[in-house]
Amino acid sequence: MSAVLTRPATAEQLRAAWCEFFAGKAHTVVPSSSLIPTHPSAPMFTNSGMMPFVSYFLGEEPVPYDPPRAASVQRCVRAGGKHNDLDAIGRSLRHLSFFEMMGNFSFGDYFKSDAIPWAWEFLTEVLGIDGDRLWITCHLSDDEAEEVWADSVGVPRDRIQRLDKDNFWEMGETGPCGPSSEIFWDYGPDLGPAGGPANPLAEDRYVEIWNLVFTQYFRGIGGELTDLPKANVDTGAGLERILAVLAGSPSLYSADVLSLLVEEA
Ligand code: ALA
Repeated sequence: MSAVLTRPATAEQLRAAWCEFFAGKAHTVVPSSSLIPTHPSAPMFTNSGMMPFVSYFLGEEPVPYDPPRAASVQRCVRAGGKHNDLDAIGRSLRHLSFFEMMGNFSFGDYFKSDAIPWAWEFLTEVLGIDGDRLWITCHLSDDEAEEVWADSVGVPRDRIQRLDKDNFWEMGETGPCGPSSEIFWDYGPDLGPAGGPANPLAEDRYVEIWNLVFTQYFRGIGGELTDLPKANVDTGAGLERILAVLAGSPSLYSADVLSLLVEEA
């Protein structure tokens, strides 16, 4: 019997649903690693789920998983460096310095045509999220990702938008990077104007819940981009943000985990 017959509502249920779903897609479920990364190209703190796997993305070490896929729920800190959310904390309801990122990873194995439909399947079928309120962004250069979203998944093209820097994810000043495709939840007109995530005035309304990175490049010390040995996938879904969507609230502070801390305080 599947453990996710009912819609997850708590952090524990969501973590379990994530691990079960990706284990069912032949991923090795890996525990969260330290907040202090070890790779020489890494920033000071683990800022995303991909960081423990940098040497596999770079082809420096053999991937110990067969097939070469992993899934995790990684503790992350974004309080410095390239991904620093400190200035947004307290001003927005959706930024945290410490959070958990649910990720699935392909080390030269599957690519966009699997990663994208699996993300949709998890959100709409496992979590029961209304697909009509999801918006998608893809990198300006990435026709392939848009085709998969539109043709394989069936997302209407007027809810797929193309952006530049916002859809190119980099680990830090150096390291693995690539074009990305982000999934946003529409909290509705009470939270801001229409126009989708491409509208900078609507960032409280359309909240990013999952980033799918197609990690194909390495950013060197001089800023140059070189091809990685293989094309990889690195995704990150915000545990607290998805809990807020499931709770029907734009505030991470009123969803499971943080609401308990707020009550205690
Ligand atoms: N590494 C990507 C991110 O943090 C998934 O957004």
